[in-house]
Amino acid sequence: MAEILVAKSAGFCFGVDRAVKMVRELVEQGAKVCTLGPIIHNAQMVERLAAQGVRIAQTPEDRLEGETMVIRSHGVSKDVFDRVALGPYADATCPYVANIHRIVEEASARGDTVLIAGDAAHPEVCGIAGRASGVCHVFGDKDSLVELLEKHPELQENPITVVCQTTFNSAKWKKCQKTLKKVCTNAKIFDTICRATSLRQAETEALSERCDVMLVIGGRHSSNTAKLRDICLTHCPRTYLLETAEELSCEMMEDAAVIGITAGASTPSEIIKEVLMAMSEMENTIQTVETEETVEKSFDEMTFEEALEASLNSLNTDQKVKGTVLAVNTTEIQVDIGRKQTGFVPYREYSNDPNLDLTKEVKVGDVLDLIVMRTNDQEGTVTLSKRRYDAIAGWDKIVEAKESGAVLEGTVTEINKGGVVVNCEGVRVFVPASQATATRMESLEFMKGTNVRFRVIEINRGRRAVGSIRSVLRDERKENETKFFETAEVGQVLTGTVVALTAYGAFVDLGGVRGMIHISELSWKRIKHPSEVVNVGDTVEVFIKGIDAEKGRISLGYKKPEDDPAAVFARDYAVGSVVDVTIVSMTDYGAFARILDGVEGLIHVS
Ligand code: F3S
Repeated sequence: MAEILVAKSAGFCFGVDRAVKMVRELVEQGAKVCTLGPIIHNAQMVERLAAQGVRIAQTPEDRLEGETMVIRSHGVSKDVFDRVALGPYADATCPYVANIHRIVEEASARGDTVLIAGDAAHPEVCGIAGRASGVCHVFGDKDSLVELLEKHPELQENPITVVCQTTFNSAKWKKCQKTLKKVCTNAKIFDTICRATSLRQAETEALSERCDVMLVIGGRHSSNTAKLRDICLTHCPRTYLLETAEELSCEMMEDAAVIGITAGASTPSEIIKEVLMAMSEMENTIQTVETEETVEKSFDEMTFEEALEASLNSLNTDQKVKGTVLAVNTTEIQVDIGRKQTGFVPYREYSNDPNLDLTKEVKVGDVLDLIVMRTNDQEGTVTLSKRRYDAIAGWDKIVEAKESGAVLEGTVTEINKGGVVVNCEGVRVFVPASQATATRMESLEFMKGTNVRFRVIEINRGRRAVGSIRSVLRDERKENETKFFETAEVGQVLTGTVVALTAYGAFVDLGGVRGMIHISELSWKRIKHPSEVVNVGDTVEVFIKGIDAEKGRISLGYKKPEDDPAAVFARDYAVGSVVDVTIVSMTDYGAFARILDGVEGLIHVS
């Protein structure tokens, strides 16, 4: 049974992961996206993104109407950046590369000559060189550096700033540094090699020494995948480079006791998983030993609630930090948290509002309260969350409110079978249907999106809060009643809304207090049901007929005295008037005739 060891650092590096996520998030937000060149050196991933409508543009001018152009992690020159910025764009330049841009720009502004150790044709190096506003040279190794210094002897004395490509070979870089320190008297040297690369290479080397077979997963055109394969080959002759799981064969793994797996910086985790699946299908005797990273559910895979739970459970004061905004784009915020690592707040960790524009919400220099979600020492990054910070702070408020009985406010975000969910300070508070409204309602749908006031009535150990809106409504009603009875008088005319009908009358809301119009008070005519006169939701003018403050009862009048048929008859019909009538009944002594609704007269038989 073969043992499988997966390198902890296998797959996307931080910068590539961030760039791919940026593209995916833009697509999820409904944007039309094009990338300036392939976003990563992995044909399968590029194809998957193409299937989601992500197009590759060759120049900034290739952007189509309405497209957002994404600058890939390699970064671009100042000139290209300015052309991209003429339209909608997102900058996925890896922060490590952006840091080199800053060093070069500042050096040029001081008048230094800039020297770059790297591959002059590589897009990253082209972008770095394009940030220099003065003289700039690129060299590939110690020999070409010596050649350069001989050709330009002024570099030995003039102020120079030296940086290197993030993926530059560290052994070569050491030799170059030695020469520079010996020959150039006025050189500022910045070691800008990305540690993610060197650590990945060191880990791969150590792993390949232990394995009978090494599988290196990644694109054939990716230079860092090719470097990993070369490193493996020095210790493990049975090293294979695979682009996809289909390239795997049983022969590759034959008689191997230990199989190692590593992957280039542009290899998506899906492809690593597909290879692992294919391996176990091919040989079900293989025992897979995944590293901690691959087994443990990452924060990215958790739902917000699960991750919040994890944050709450592991909370200590060190995890709360203040971050000063250094840069912001539509998908993330870069912050300085006073540590050596660079801090990032991904969009979804800032807000769950899909329509929020981060660039309008946050500006450089703002100070944010944040919580540390994940520290990656290998890559020198810290992922932070404002939502979780707010939710934790919100949870403290919820606990306090439970103790004090304080009334809180929130927005109804969800309606479910059992009741409604209210979002208060980032915390989900469940309100059972029986506690959601003043009276039982058939449907609570009308509450969605409304702001409500509630009390916390229960907190359980699973950090769930239960609230009651009804409790607040009941208090509000009592308060309104007290105020009402202090000023109400019989005969007072009021306007209210019909809120309920019963067989014996209509209930009217008079602004937090309810009164009732008895069915006999609705009309001068005889009616069978109040709905013949009023309906729920009608605005009605009523007058107070009676008040019982002790029992909290208010009886209301609706029909007006001046509409009383007897009064109308007395006013409009004088003795001697000739009127058309309807005979409604006959007796031996005469016929009854209706003059008006509610007024009948007798025509005697004589
Ligand atoms: Fe950035 Fe290093 Fe990757 S420079 S793109 S994190 S290899």
